[in-house]
Amino acid sequence: PGIATYDPGFVNTASCRSSVTFIDGEKGILEYRGYPIEQLAEKSNFLEVAYLLVHGELPTKEQYDHWVHHITYHTFVHENVKAFMQGFRYDAHPMGMLMASVGALSTFYPEAANISDPDNRQIQIIRMIAKMPTLGAWAFRHAQGKPYVYPDNDLSYAENFMSMLFKMSEVKYDPDPRIAKALDTLFILHADHEQNCSTNAVRSVGSSQVDPYSAVSAGIGALFGPLHGGANEAVLKMLRRIGNKSEIPAFIEGVKNGNERLMGFGHRVYKNYDPRAKIIKKACDDVFEVTGVNPLLEVAQELEKIALEDEYFVKRKLYPNVDFYSGLIYEALEFPPEMFTVLFAIGRTPGWLAQWQELIEDKEQKIARPKQIYTGDRQLTFVPAEERW
Ligand code: CMC
Repeated sequence: PGIATYDPGFVNTASCRSSVTFIDGEKGILEYRGYPIEQLAEKSNFLEVAYLLVHGELPTKEQYDHWVHHITYHTFVHENVKAFMQGFRYDAHPMGMLMASVGALSTFYPEAANISDPDNRQIQIIRMIAKMPTLGAWAFRHAQGKPYVYPDNDLSYAENFMSMLFKMSEVKYDPDPRIAKALDTLFILHADHEQNCSTNAVRSVGSSQVDPYSAVSAGIGALFGPLHGGANEAVLKMLRRIGNKSEIPAFIEGVKNGNERLMGFGHRVYKNYDPRAKIIKKACDDVFEVTGVNPLLEVAQELEKIALEDEYFVKRKLYPNVDFYSGLIYEALEFPPEMFTVLFAIGRTPGWLAQWQELIEDKEQKIARPKQIYTGDRQLTFVPAEERW
């Protein structure tokens, strides 16, 4: 009974009104709060972009200083969170650890459940943006069997993350500014992407009015899936399999014959060059200046060139997406593939929170509860087990 529109994957259904992120997929445009991603990536920094996403406008100097100060001084986590993380198996996937530890934060901050208080919401937002790199870095150290490194609040957001990841002795970690800048840029590029799967998960769970740690933990779960956050890892595997430039034509033929997909190409929304991919290409150059060129870069560049000139890809409007080059950078920075999605999650956190806050403040929103089209039996007569068996 009633009218239901059947739309699996919500391909044609708008679930909300939002003023956070604008995408024009045909033209390859991405804007946060109206500002083009290219300008933000070049001229801003991640924490300023996080402020913009959460507050809707750029900060004054005073607002920015206050924001950065608060985020910096919330980077530590409760010692029992550390003990909790140490309890995971040695081979625990860092995304599983991140999802669990963010969810666990709801028990450390029970006041977060009071979501109707805007000041209370702000403090939880600050806490989560601040603590995500700490939790992500500790998941990384855990897999390596190394002691966890505490935050160094003299450092910038990306530098502190690098310190917690890579510090090897008591000596203060001295991050390479070019790597820190590239990481910061990658965080900006991942900071929001309107109603993607994980953001939809945050909104859907958040619509029950649960605390934001539980909602974001659900978003991390959604991002964990290979169709969402896991494609950059698949790109690297593909490039490694191709191995060298001479193998590309045979590989492309295989893709055209439908044997497999060219990973890192194509997008549900972008039918043009993904604007984030262009910026990442430039970040690659900066990182490789420090780390040495990832030998797979040549293969990637040639693959891109051949695909962009090939009728199969042109006709279907398949262009490189954000994942085509990001894995090359992560690998050059010596991250194991399981960490790639953790980096994505850290970057996406302000976007999840901005969208969560928008949901809570939106008087038109209701608990997410889609309809279904029932295809099962009706009105059967139950036969007790002893009579059936
Ligand atoms: N390689 C070869 N053919 C492709 C590819 C590809 N990467 N992507 C799409 N196609 C073809 C597809 O076979 C279909 O052809 P035909 O019309 O002849 O059947 C046509 O293009 C349309 O494809 P679709 O599957 O209907 O498109 P979609 O919008 O449902 O899928 C996608 C989008 C991203 C899942 C898909 O392009 C894909 O699988 N790409 C590779 C995986 C990848 O790079 N994913 C990262 C997405 S960006 C990160 C994020 O936002 O999370």
